[in-house]
Amino acid sequence: MPTVYVTRRVHFNAAHRLHNPAKSDAWNAETFGPCNHPNWHGHNYVLEVTVAGEPDPDTGYVIDLGDLKALLEERILRKVDHKNLNLDVDFLRGVIPSTENLVVAIWNELVDALPRGRLHCVRLYETERNVAEYRGE
Ligand code: NI
Repeated sequence: MPTVYVTRRVHFNAAHRLHNPAKSDAWNAETFGPCNHPNWHGHNYVLEVTVAGEPDPDTGYVIDLGDLKALLEERILRKVDHKNLNLDVDFLRGVIPSTENLVVAIWNELVDALPRGRLHCVRLYETERNVAEYRGE
């Protein structure tokens, strides 16, 4: 049976600050530059979640994309959209909200929740030019 990869793309807006509380203010300012600004800054994030699997012979679907949409809404978007990623999100407590750390955290929220198929890739665009992805490795 063929393995097919299907992707759902969603958007959210959120504020964050890159800051490691274990380090000095000077280290944080030097390391993170404007991303360390104490009064936060925002991004228009684009999240792509790819599910792999064999098409169901009855439906032709790897996963019903309506189900994936609902899962992303429930597990991720309602928690992060128009929120502060440092302060507001249960699954990001204690996490420095870099794009790299966000894709791992989002993966962990989704990996055991798919009704069909298996999670293949979580890709997050922080800007048009900066993107991180995680494949569970
Ligand atoms: Ni930022």
